[in-house]
Amino acid sequence: MLEQQDTYILAIETSCDETAAAVVKNGTEVLSNIISSQINLHKKYGGVVPEIASRKHIENINPVIQEAMEQAGLSFEQIDAIAVTYGPGLVGALLVGLSAAKGLAFALEKPLIGVHHIEGHISANYIANPSFHPPFICLVVSGGHSHLVHVRDYGEYEILGQTRDDAAGEAFDKVARALGLSYPGGPQIDRLAQEGDPESIHFPRAYLEEDSYDFSFSGLKSAVLNYLNQAKMKQEEIHIPNIAASFQEAVTEVLVDKAIKAAKEKNISKIAIAGGVAANQGLRKKMEHRCKQEGFALQYPPLILCTDNAAMIGSAAYYDYKKGIHHGWDLNAVPNLKLGQKIDVSK
Ligand code: KG4
Ligand code: ZN
Repeated sequence: MLEQQDTYILAIETSCDETAAAVVKNGTEVLSNIISSQINLHKKYGGVVPEIASRKHIENINPVIQEAMEQAGLSFEQIDAIAVTYGPGLVGALLVGLSAAKGLAFALEKPLIGVHHIEGHISANYIANPSFHPPFICLVVSGGHSHLVHVRDYGEYEILGQTRDDAAGEAFDKVARALGLSYPGGPQIDRLAQEGDPESIHFPRAYLEEDSYDFSFSGLKSAVLNYLNQAKMKQEEIHIPNIAASFQEAVTEVLVDKAIKAAKEKNISKIAIAGGVAANQGLRKKMEHRCKQEGFALQYPPLILCTDNAAMIGSAAYYDYKKGIHHGWDLNAVPNLKLGQKIDVSK
């Protein structure tokens, strides 16, 4: 027997190279979380090829939705709303998920809820710990974004800082490529760093202006490339684990310092991390250590909810659903959608 007050959301995510669908109960309980990754297809190109991503999403989307429903053990009639990522991301990729969501919502006469991808990443923390509530400071670090966000309430975001050039994950992927590691390089650098000495090479830390919460990783990436070129020219031995560990140390030190500074200055007692780079063991350890030292509570999602998935989208949509927020059929994919920029809805 389904209880009357429970809310079941079918969520769809296709903003990059994962075709994902999930069913989430009451914003925090994941009944199914299906992720069809295209990583192997894009690997040989060293990054995501948008055209290939769109085509693969078209092939995968219906079976992935079907599997999510089957695993959840629900019928479409039992779903209360259809949620979908409508930006930011690759426009062709977003459109596949959005069209599937619109078709389902229209046919089933259910509300359609468009979700900001970063809002989804942040919300993965509500699934990880249902008693974790705003306000908190969230460091969102992925392949496309590096944002420091003050989450004032559900759906209320103040962006304190963001990257001025490469995203943190992008820096991991580019450095990995220079080291001859395959895409996506983040997890491989993470693994190799565990065998290296983080203090063996001093790479630069870009703190920018003293009062800035912004990030910059392109200088660090160039420093690693220069180090590699010089070592090759001088025919010096290249110790990949040491480079990986020293690079990771330089990235995570700045990320952690800025998150701690924001929590102190905003007088917020809780810090969360989110996004693909939140899977990084070095970042998790450093953040844990500093939060303990400084007396902040730390929250992070399990690894499977750090990288792209649809369960996080279903969680974010739940809080909109509770507020009666939904979108019209004219909802479009917005590749550069800003966080907090909720398109006027409740039509
Ligand atoms: O959140 P996500 O799946 O996609 C975007 O929204 O961009 O993040 C993917 C990014 C990639 O750049 C990948 O290299 C990075 O997250 N990543 C990691 C780790 N796992 C994934 N970076 C560092 N360490 C990891 N363990
Ligand atoms: Zn993402």
